[in-house]
Amino acid sequence: MKKKVLVTGGTGYIGSHTVVELMNAGFTPIIVDNLSNSNISVLEGIKKITGIEPIFENIDCKDYIALDRFFEKYQGIEAIINFAASKAVGESVEKPLLYYRNNLMSLVNLLELMPKHGINNIVFSSSCTVYGQPDVLPVTEQSPIKPATSPYGSTKQMSETIIADTVYAYSNLKAILLRYFNPIGAHPSGEIGELPNGIPNNLLPYVTQTARGLREKLRVFGDDYNTEDGSCIRDFINVVDLAKAHVVAVKRMLENKSEKPVEIFNLGTGRGVSVFELVSAFEKATGVKVPFEVAPRRDGDIEKVWADTSYANEVLGWKAQETLENTLRSAWNWEQKLMSRDGNS
Ligand code: UD1
Repeated sequence: MKKKVLVTGGTGYIGSHTVVELMNAGFTPIIVDNLSNSNISVLEGIKKITGIEPIFENIDCKDYIALDRFFEKYQGIEAIINFAASKAVGESVEKPLLYYRNNLMSLVNLLELMPKHGINNIVFSSSCTVYGQPDVLPVTEQSPIKPATSPYGSTKQMSETIIADTVYAYSNLKAILLRYFNPIGAHPSGEIGELPNGIPNNLLPYVTQTARGLREKLRVFGDDYNTEDGSCIRDFINVVDLAKAHVVAVKRMLENKSEKPVEIFNLGTGRGVSVFELVSAFEKATGVKVPFEVAPRRDGDIEKVWADTSYANEVLGWKAQETLENTLRSAWNWEQKLMSRDGNS
């Protein structure tokens, strides 16, 4: 019998790629999503890649009763991967309560329902945002948590605390917190990828939309940082590599390999790449020019951050594999697919 894994937010960007990797690894993922920031057509993309019809329930994880009924219907779920959350930093500053409600209520509901339905394992989507600007680079999992610079960041920190407290209180529960660096790219098939809502906030979707001609030019936020070329530095991690880490994490818990009830892993490549470097790597990988201008620094941006991945490599047994070039090509391939689907509007 295939093991069932609940994937909340499973039609979203990272969620959908994880659903594919779970299927490839012989699990039965069950998607719960309220489609607030994703599209039902993602299910077709998943089916095209895997040949498997995904199980999907349109449920809002803030709805405790609906979630309780869901667990009654799908008995025997062995693990939860919780992606269901809002993630736009700027929006979180304007609508903090939306973020606290969405991100925390969903998590609390899941954690409350886990013991009730005999589910012991949860993987949580956290972020390198919890480190703020680290004092030492590359950043390890032991680095101090810095005050959050946005309500979005606060929800990630609070969620980590809520999970740790809950696992402490219920002896059967186990959790793995995955701190993502900057996920980019799309599935190599071009069947699933990121679907930004409106004008993208994140760098690579803005780059691909500019390359496509949908945006006039990229604005590089700041060229006067204390870095070699003056632009910010990030650790860009391929989304399929990232998705695979979730499968490894689920297996680790199901095979009782966790060394502690709550484990934390950085998911990055270990390599820092500047904004300018990313743009020129994109141009080189795709042969497409990206017009850009330098703009003032963006409020709340961290100057530089990249991961120390040795703990994830050695203990989790996962390592990012894909090259930056292939990752950038996959993002461009996906953008072209969207262009042929939607036209250039
Ligand atoms: C942001 C969040 C992070 C969140 C992640 C995923 C902050 C401090 N961090 O990461 O918590 O997990 O998004 O949603 O907000 N850039 C440009 N021009 C653009 C867009 C971005 O120059 O049009 C630059 C930014 O200034 C930054 C880099 O590109 O230096 C990466 O930006 P972005 O993709 O938004 O990710 P983060 O800010 O690192």
